[in-house]
Amino acid sequence: MSAMTPAGLTEDVLRAFHSTPDPRLRELITALIRHLHAFAAETRLTPEEWMAGVRFLTVTGQKCDAQRQEFVLLSDILGLSSLVDIVNAEPGATESTVLGPFYVAGAPRRAMGEHIGRPEDGSPTLVRGRVTDPAGRPLDEATLDVWQSSGSGLYDIQDPDMPPFNLRGVFVTGPDGRFEFRTARPASYPVPTDGPVGDLLRATGRSRWRAAHIHAIVSAPGRRPVTTHIFDADNPYLSTDTVFGVKDSLVRPFRPAGPGDPADVSYVVDMDFTLASPAPAS
Ligand code: BEZ
Ligand code: FE
Repeated sequence: MSAMTPAGLTEDVLRAFHSTPDPRLRELITALIRHLHAFAAETRLTPEEWMAGVRFLTVTGQKCDAQRQEFVLLSDILGLSSLVDIVNAEPGATESTVLGPFYVAGAPRRAMGEHIGRPEDGSPTLVRGRVTDPAGRPLDEATLDVWQSSGSGLYDIQDPDMPPFNLRGVFVTGPDGRFEFRTARPASYPVPTDGPVGDLLRATGRSRWRAAHIHAIVSAPGRRPVTTHIFDADNPYLSTDTVFGVKDSLVRPFRPAGPGDPADVSYVVDMDFTLASPAPAS
């Protein structure tokens, strides 16, 4: 029997998975094996490095609990979460981006124009726009579920001094598709770095900062929902966002309020959202 080559081994392993009954599972597992084997062969991965990888993934799992999802954070900082977004983009819809770990379902429904936070959360900002279909027709009963950190960079669930659901709210449009809400201008903040993902960011000299943003899940009856952000155009971390979440189409100026703007806000942000129909199942 001749010595096994890397390519020969890969073929043997692929053959072992060839009769996977579910075709999609077969496609995913065989592609995973091909790419994993190519990675180990290309880098001539040593046993010590392989074991260090196993340890890293073990600690990543051990860091997870009901609040903390270190595997999703790992996916985020490797750009995998953003890649999944991009390959699943709905043509004609507002671009989506990462959900992040700070979403909390069940935020209170608020009246149009209402402030979702407190005066001490940061510079008062009016966010307004329309939710439409790709042809620009307004969407009635579109829902915006918005959440963000304060001017200090903390979410309510990270700051014991904030009331629950501070800087969160749900807004529902009328037939004109319009929405507006008041909030605090958000600040940049670091992703959690007290776990193995933080170690990896430090070892690779990467930034741990997210560019300042407001999160939104926008949905409407019969439309595919979009999970997205509004990014502050003045932010210094737009090009180095730790999780590769920034898309040019989501960056907006936080324009200083002027004559004609409501007197109680310092900044105004205009952001429209477009929802497409779900793609037919293939
Ligand atoms: C966030 O925007 O909330 C977030 C996204 C990915 C990783 C960490 C935080
Ligand atoms: Fe965030």
